[in-house]
Amino acid sequence: MADNAVEIKDLKKSFGDFQAVKGISFNIKKGEIFGILGPNGAGKTTTLNMILGILTPTSGRITVESLDINRDALEVKQMIGFMTQETVVENQLTGRDNLRLFARLYHVPEGQISGRIEESLREASLVDFGDARAGTYSGGMQRRLSLVRSMIQDPKILILDEPTTGLDVQSRVSMWSHISSLHRRGITVILTTQYLEEADALCDRIAVIDHGEIKAIGTASELKRMAAQGNILEVTVKDSEVERVNRLIKSKFGIETKVDGDRIIATIEKKSLSTSIKIAQMLEKEGSDVLAFSMHLPTLDDAFLKLTGESLRDAVSKDNTDNRAAMYKR
Ligand SMILES: Nc1ncnc2c1ncn2[C@@H]1O[C@H](COP(=O)(O)OP(=O)(O)O)[C@@H](O)[C@H]1O
Ligand SMILES: [Mg+2]
Repeated sequence: MADNAVEIKDLKKSFGDFQAVKGISFNIKKGEIFGILGPNGAGKTTTLNMILGILTPTSGRITVESLDINRDALEVKQMIGFMTQETVVENQLTGRDNLRLFARLYHVPEGQISGRIEESLREASLVDFGDARAGTYSGGMQRRLSLVRSMIQDPKILILDEPTTGLDVQSRVSMWSHISSLHRRGITVILTTQYLEEADALCDRIAVIDHGEIKAIGTASELKRMAAQGNILEVTVKDSEVERVNRLIKSKFGIETKVDGDRIIATIEKKSLSTSIKIAQMLEKEGSDVLAFSMHLPTLDDAFLKLTGESLRDAVSKDNTDNRAAMYKR
């Protein structure tokens, strides 16, 4: 259909006996920011690499801007800008020369190259650093250079594989605003992420992927509504108490719960506040060691937990800790 930038039908990829992508189908509309959200090993990069023509699918069909990626491989390649998961800028080259290199690789007409380079530096807020070697840039600056570099040929579609993984929170937010501003020019953006906040803040629609399967596709609000009607109650207790408290809540209040690490998560459809208060009173009476107790509207994390049976939050907070550790080391 002409409204779709990308159409994917029953796409599969096996590596030997292992099925990394198990028959996924979805369409990406022209001009939207489409997020593929899933944990490490879910099959995100494998899917992107098939759209890019880097990997050959085991079976299935991919169309990009109504072109078959097998038949019209070169045309498709020219249409897509791609930023890999690992930022690879040429450290010895200046920002300007990094951009010039890519402009030549992507056959930007010679007469337009200088103009494109200056435009790109402006977009990346790197005008003052254009003549500095990219190796001297901060992580966030390198990532921004890498972003505009992947768009040097003015592609219709931009594919970003985990554009903010490993960035500190401030650089992540700045990256989001750069992606949004590029997007306002009408480009279609496909990005993968492990961050719920990122999918929530940036993406028009999100595909939740786990173990090579699409669990759901929708806007962030649609996914949240799928997670629960009503409110979510979250009770954190000592590890040794999780089972007992979970049993108590289930048996005394007859509500469904899920256990995620030291958290007990319950969906309360009606009278959420008074039910929560009664649960709190019961736990107090039972002498349970409650570390945290909260009631909130369903979040994307709740949706993810419901759809996949596991939480993304732990991976994210671990990653943030790693980031902070890395920052202190510098
Ligand atoms: N070339 C390969 N050979 C074998 N297994 C692979 C290969 N590439 C990826 N995989 C496996 O496929 C699964 C999905 O990988 P990937 O698409 O990179 O996940 P993600 O990008 O979501 O972290 C993982 O279990 C990974 O180990
Ligand atoms: Mg990946």
